[in-house]
Amino acid sequence: MSEVKELLIEKWFPIQECNIESARERGAQFPPLYRLHVYWTRKPQAASRIASILASLPAVKLSNEFMLRLLRSIGFKFLEEGSPEVLLRTLSDEKTLLKEFTREHLLLVLKKMARDKKFGYSQLYSASPNIEGYIRLFEKVWGRRPIGGDFMAGGGSIPFEMLRSGYSTVIAGEYNPVAYLILKAAIEYPLKYGEQLVKDVKNYAKDLLNELKESIKEYYPQSSDRNEQPKSYIWVRTFKCPKCGLEIPAVSSFWLDREKGFALYPTIDGSRVKLHVVKVKILEEYKVDNRKEAKVQIIEGKFKGRIFKTEGYEKGGSLRCPNQECPIIQSEELKSQYTEYLRSREDKGYRGVHRARLIAVQFAGRIYTEPTDEIIKAYCRAEEDLKRSWNKLVEEELIPLEEIPVGEKTIEPMRWGLTRWYQLFNARQLLIYSKIVYLIRKFYEKILFDVKEKFDEEAEDYAKAIVTYLTIAFGKLLDYNSTLTSWIKDRGVVEHTFKRHAYTWTWEFVELDITQEKASFGWALNNVLKSLSGLVEQLKECRGKILVTYGDATETTLKYMPKGGFDVLFTDPPYYGSIQHGELSDFFYVWYRLILRDLYPEAFSEPLVPKEEEAVYNKVRMGKPIKVTDKRRRRRVDVFDELARKWYEDKLRDIFKAHYNALRNDGVFILWFAHKASEAWVKTIKALLDVGFVITAIWGVRTEMARSLHIVGRAALRTSLLIVARKLPRNPSWLPEVLNEIKRCLPSRLSELERLQVWGPDFLMAAMAEGLRVASRYWPVRDPLGKLSPDDILDKILSLSTMLATSRILRRISPELVGIDAPTKFYILARRLYGDIISYDDARRLALAVLGTTPTEDPVNLVVKRSGLCTDKTVEVEGERVKAIKLLDPWDRVRRGMVDRIKPIPLIDYIHKAISVLEAGGSITKAAAHLAPVARDAFMLLRVLNYALPDEVVIKGKLVRNREKVHVTTLLHRLSEEELRSLIEYATEREVEQETLDKFLKGSI
Ligand SMILES: C[S@@+](CC[C@H](N)C(=O)[O-])C[C@H]1O[C@@H](n2cnc3c(N)ncnc32)[C@H](O)[C@@H]1O
Repeated sequence: MSEVKELLIEKWFPIQECNIESARERGAQFPPLYRLHVYWTRKPQAASRIASILASLPAVKLSNEFMLRLLRSIGFKFLEEGSPEVLLRTLSDEKTLLKEFTREHLLLVLKKMARDKKFGYSQLYSASPNIEGYIRLFEKVWGRRPIGGDFMAGGGSIPFEMLRSGYSTVIAGEYNPVAYLILKAAIEYPLKYGEQLVKDVKNYAKDLLNELKESIKEYYPQSSDRNEQPKSYIWVRTFKCPKCGLEIPAVSSFWLDREKGFALYPTIDGSRVKLHVVKVKILEEYKVDNRKEAKVQIIEGKFKGRIFKTEGYEKGGSLRCPNQECPIIQSEELKSQYTEYLRSREDKGYRGVHRARLIAVQFAGRIYTEPTDEIIKAYCRAEEDLKRSWNKLVEEELIPLEEIPVGEKTIEPMRWGLTRWYQLFNARQLLIYSKIVYLIRKFYEKILFDVKEKFDEEAEDYAKAIVTYLTIAFGKLLDYNSTLTSWIKDRGVVEHTFKRHAYTWTWEFVELDITQEKASFGWALNNVLKSLSGLVEQLKECRGKILVTYGDATETTLKYMPKGGFDVLFTDPPYYGSIQHGELSDFFYVWYRLILRDLYPEAFSEPLVPKEEEAVYNKVRMGKPIKVTDKRRRRRVDVFDELARKWYEDKLRDIFKAHYNALRNDGVFILWFAHKASEAWVKTIKALLDVGFVITAIWGVRTEMARSLHIVGRAALRTSLLIVARKLPRNPSWLPEVLNEIKRCLPSRLSELERLQVWGPDFLMAAMAEGLRVASRYWPVRDPLGKLSPDDILDKILSLSTMLATSRILRRISPELVGIDAPTKFYILARRLYGDIISYDDARRLALAVLGTTPTEDPVNLVVKRSGLCTDKTVEVEGERVKAIKLLDPWDRVRRGMVDRIKPIPLIDYIHKAISVLEAGGSITKAAAHLAPVARDAFMLLRVLNYALPDEVVIKGKLVRNREKVHVTTLLHRLSEEELRSLIEYATEREVEQETLDKFLKGSI
């Protein structure tokens, strides 16, 4: 890559195709890479592949044929397997084959398939790109193949796809030891050892499992009730009512398996509540806190005929005693009971202690019974054996003793008295895990001995590779078999520990029978094996090299820089504090370290995951004190916010600087950034500009299926930004000049985006990107009056770009819209672009755009809230809380008295009043009476809404007809302009009559 040529990624990104394929990856069939090991932030392989390829090719003229051919070569199998001809016939009115297959057709067909959730062609991640073709192309265009790097590579999607795209060398780095291990297992070993590795892992896994099973079978007896061994054991935490002394199981629901009709029937048995496993039928269903509960009748056994409700005792963290006169038991009391119990039992030498009772066991076929005596005794035996062998296990380092460090995420289990990592498991789990650690260590020696001859110098590495997969399978078991798992009552299956990006407290937990071949450890080993086999398959055509490195990206990027620098560098950093990779990884790390410390001394020497250099927003690490018991106080103390922000932003800047220095002069840096608050990414972009980069493109990629063309609103919250940056010369300038330049450049780019079918929020995003692209060439941009900070300047640039883009959208919808009021404009744009939920930042930018000026007060307040168009809303997106607004439905606004709030009354209020009449079953004439005062404009607005509103909306996860649109269409079709005019006359006459009557009654006539 000698001269600085424009790259394809700087001109085009097939956003919609990429979104669809990325969303498919998150569907039922996870790619092998995802299945290998839990990691919290994997980027979609589809998006990673498309970005890797477009970042390594020069920009050319984008003809229809070129775009389709390129998509095919990337691995977009639809064009080969999807039989477009058949689908095209269905698209064509005349039922004849269309002559030319354009990208527009492709998008139409894809959207139909996404909507019906029927694709009928292989997913992009499983299809290989045309590697040979790319290699030839690279040689021809650049004279060599690109060298790529990702030094914050996490779960590995990006380096994995760079390799598959024909890069000659890829360097993947990580600071987190668990991620480093995943990278080795996901890319390095499969590429290096191929099929042989799959075979050997399979054989050793089998031997390991057999040996383990033999040594632990006494702890998992058959149930004498069924002459069968249970698959899973369901535990419930128990507490004592401080008033009446009753022992209460903290179940939130008495359902055990709703689909199969199993429930728990509570009776009072002396000083405790007993739970009986019963079969029931539903008499009546109802909802409590979004959970399905029911009135049920027992249909078998000694309680046959009894009726009860399935709502349990636990609600919102506190517990209801079945004795009605007792007060609710508050969360603080529950925590102190749990902690106290644990302390007193540990004092007596017991470990893996939990205030919990085994309430049910599950057999194959989702049959449930109460635990029999021998099942309970077997657990007690494990508990005693653990107690007896504890000191030896500790001495031999078969159990991790490390304390859980206080952190943003770790505080939850600590509040319950669980302060060491081993305490997240019960006694039987700990006993078995110590055996697994012991066996895997032993197996390393055995494997090394076996492979020494065949692998010679590579023997140690090969044995280490095999042991890595055995360890990773053990990690899967830890995730699915801890006391932070939960029971999915709808389906009768276990929910793993890391369902959320946190250590979430659970009231019930599940223990798996480790000896079961198809569940538990056997399942985990098999799963890892399948994943490995898939990875080998996907990498087999790659002809590049991979180097996996451990360390802080500020150092590793430069340390491993090839001569002359990298051609392509990707970075997908953590987004502020949304995910605490370090804190979460400790759960696995402390166990892995017992096995891997000597095999990976570079990464597994420290007692816990190193966190000092982790690029993350973490207030606790800045010294914020967290009281384990006092939640309210914790919320109030927030002085460390600024420190944590600064640390994160400075760290990111340092990492960007290292990337700038490690990049070739004609290389490209691509930064992934989760777009939830534009304030945050403005800061990130500023950091990029500060270290010298020029932004050349930004694309928004989503990983959620937008099921209808317009229903992208909620999905827009999940947009990740792909920011493309280069080392280009800059020419510092003044703000007014830069704003003029943006005004000059933007229209042609917007036309191009329209031609490339970039719509909705993506269109706004691309417009902002163009603004930034122009501005970054003139960075640092200065305010001649010296009043605006660099952040303010960036904000001005983004606002201008949004304004130009939105007025273009409005003009496209209807030129008549230009002169109408701001709230109405906002409503149309917001509904068209986002649906109902809009992040506060996007709403702010949209409000600024429709105002056209910068007000002194919050523009969202001024335009949207004051006129009663929305309510505030906080939405959780990928574990992070995002401030947003929710647009209200017309009838909701009227019912809540949120119309006619400001003067002059916005045009949209008249329409909403009319719609709410129809929604309530009123007549057209009654509805039209509300339109009378604004007849002509109302008619225009109805036409606009009829075009701008989506046909369908998502309500409670389901796609349904948009009632607002139905009413708009009804009004539009049933009213004519003459009718509206006659309504005006009628209304005016009425007003005159009313006035005359009023005067008469007041005695003035
Ligand atoms: C968003 S994740 C990357 C996810 C990845 N792209 C994938 O597809 O799985 C960010 C990663 O940055 C890593 N990280 C944080 N600070 C780092 C540092 N100073 N040096 C290197 N990696 C770091 C974290 O451990 C985390 O795995």
